[in-house]
Amino acid sequence: MKDIAGRVEALRAQLEEANHRYYVLDDPSITDAEWDALFRELQSLEAAHPELVSPESPTQRVGAKPSGKFESVTHSIPMLSLGNAFSDEEVEDFVNRIRKELGVEAPVFSIEPKFDGLAISLRYEHGRFVRGATRGDGLTGEDVTANLRTIKSLPLRLRGEAVPAVLEVRGEVVMPKAEFDAYNARALASGQKVLANPRNGAAGSLRQLDPAVTASRPLAFFAYALGEVEGAEALPTRHSEVLQWLRSLGFPISAEATTGEGLQGVLDAFKSMGERRDALPFDIDGVVYKLDRFDQQREMGFVSRAPRWAIAHKFPAQEVTTRVESIEVNVGRTGAVTPWALMQPVHVGGVTVTRATLHNADQIARLDVRAGDAVIIRRAGDVIPEVVRVVEEARPVDAAGMPIHPPFEMPTKCPVCGSAVEREEGEVVARCTGGLFCPAQRVQALFHFAGRRAMDIEGLGEKIAEALVETDLVRSPADLYRLTVEDLLDMKRRLDTREDAKESQATRWAENLIASIDASKNTQLERLLFGLGIPDIGESTAKTLARHFGSLEALQNASLESLMAVNDIGAIMAQHIRHFFDEPHNQEVLGALLAHGVSFPEGAPQRAVEGPLLGKTVVLTGGLSAMSRDEAGAKLEQLGAKVSGSVSKKTSIVIAGESAGSKLTKAQELGVEIWDETQLMTFLAAHERDG
Ligand code: IVH
Repeated sequence: MKDIAGRVEALRAQLEEANHRYYVLDDPSITDAEWDALFRELQSLEAAHPELVSPESPTQRVGAKPSGKFESVTHSIPMLSLGNAFSDEEVEDFVNRIRKELGVEAPVFSIEPKFDGLAISLRYEHGRFVRGATRGDGLTGEDVTANLRTIKSLPLRLRGEAVPAVLEVRGEVVMPKAEFDAYNARALASGQKVLANPRNGAAGSLRQLDPAVTASRPLAFFAYALGEVEGAEALPTRHSEVLQWLRSLGFPISAEATTGEGLQGVLDAFKSMGERRDALPFDIDGVVYKLDRFDQQREMGFVSRAPRWAIAHKFPAQEVTTRVESIEVNVGRTGAVTPWALMQPVHVGGVTVTRATLHNADQIARLDVRAGDAVIIRRAGDVIPEVVRVVEEARPVDAAGMPIHPPFEMPTKCPVCGSAVEREEGEVVARCTGGLFCPAQRVQALFHFAGRRAMDIEGLGEKIAEALVETDLVRSPADLYRLTVEDLLDMKRRLDTREDAKESQATRWAENLIASIDASKNTQLERLLFGLGIPDIGESTAKTLARHFGSLEALQNASLESLMAVNDIGAIMAQHIRHFFDEPHNQEVLGALLAHGVSFPEGAPQRAVEGPLLGKTVVLTGGLSAMSRDEAGAKLEQLGAKVSGSVSKKTSIVIAGESAGSKLTKAQELGVEIWDETQLMTFLAAHERDG
């Protein structure tokens, strides 16, 4: 028995070493076949001796399905973001600020790729991987441990003897370009939605409820920072040394990471990384410069949104030429009719695109873009590609030299339901006036209702929403709760012309969807409110309303005045809310939802009950990076604060974010206490933990 335990441990060590050589050192020591043989031997020993299985075993990377939702995790040290520089001049300003404040001629920077993936934090206790979480809003993220374990380059055990009691490592999970392209090729072939960029690929894969699905989409990880560290022997004094230390502990570090001196040093590195960009296996969207010495980092400190000792130098947006095949319009959830160009496929920034947004009728008129035109399109970061301009010389013309295609005109009737398309005075957006009569709006409303941040019905994507509306099985969200497995199977039979669809698979799909619909009944008021799609009511306003009124009934009965008394709810929003609840159709739908068992905890209205900020009036101004002002306001209210929109003598604290203006000046004049974002985040983190 002892021998078997010894063999198991030896196999694990060999497999870990092989992984390390392959993923971290980029210097494979054994062949795939040898690796497989070791792995299978370990698997069979563990199968025969289950008492020897440990969560850190290489065989345990794909574990059991977690129970449904991701738990939230509070980061013990907030995960902040980076300021951006889009030009050499902005980098020069950044470097000069540092030179001036530190009195150093040529400060040394650690230079790393800016990975285009998803930031995560990994926690190791006594050398074992215990938890991994997404960045979330910077303060709280989601526990995605089970999915992170499937990433083969992520160590489950730290290497070496001297491992700290607690080590939090931060880094980026990325989807390799090859995997991204393969995913999209599969999606295109099966008529599913393609991923906009590898970041969405990484994020989507990490949010899978089944780790087996995550495991099937190979992701990679790169470490670039530390979080909490406890019980470490002397820590390095430079960031570049931290990277080497992390590498020695078993973490993959980008081979591109280097150091450079002063402005010239970073700009040279930017240029050479830009040249290698396309050849890298992962998408990067810029280069990050971090002051290398920690004492110098401390001296520079933070501003509201990010460290003053680091900056992300972004690559310029990429532009390419292609041809417009046709101009189409799309009808959204609120009826907005958005024109877009269907184009010949073109590769830009690592992604093949076939669609570019044309925004609205004004934009089309400005560009004068027509079917058949050669156009220059631009794609920057994760934004939807857009048409920059038309190459007029290349416009197709007839024998007389006249353009073949006339200027585009917005449809006056909805292409989906035939209702009038109208554009209100002063608005740029044209809307279909069909409301929920319009199938396109119904599909989007249903898709929104089922969304992850709304009722969270897993498996109810856009395609299914479309099918449910098309077959008239669902006219309002309440109809969802009437569906049976048989209904869904009928629907599938009617729509699915392919013969190969296996009956047993279809049944499993239908049963799963019904189960998710059923599970969604148990919800929260704010999710329901957000899911109903009341105009202008976003996720955070829904939360504010739910907390302020406590119950659906109190909210339904709220007068315009009492709605307007809620923080951040103005006259127009109050009217939209009132109008929504006054509409008989909406009352019916709400009644039906409740009758079908949709339920949520209700409580007393929560307005400034207790907390460290009780009796304090707080004003938020300027932009925050980690969360919206609404969210920050809601968190402050939870701690007892009254959040107000204007600064006066009565104001206790002004929280000044990025480019705060007159409110900040006024606060300075009045001598009101002023916090930056870092102070706010630290305060919230401290009190969120208490609560
Ligand atoms: S360091 C306090 N290093 O950029 C600074 N971030 O805008 C912490 N990112 O959320 C971040 N590559 O997702 C750092 N080499 C790199 C990075 C990097 C990509 C992302 C990260 C972060 C965002 C900040």
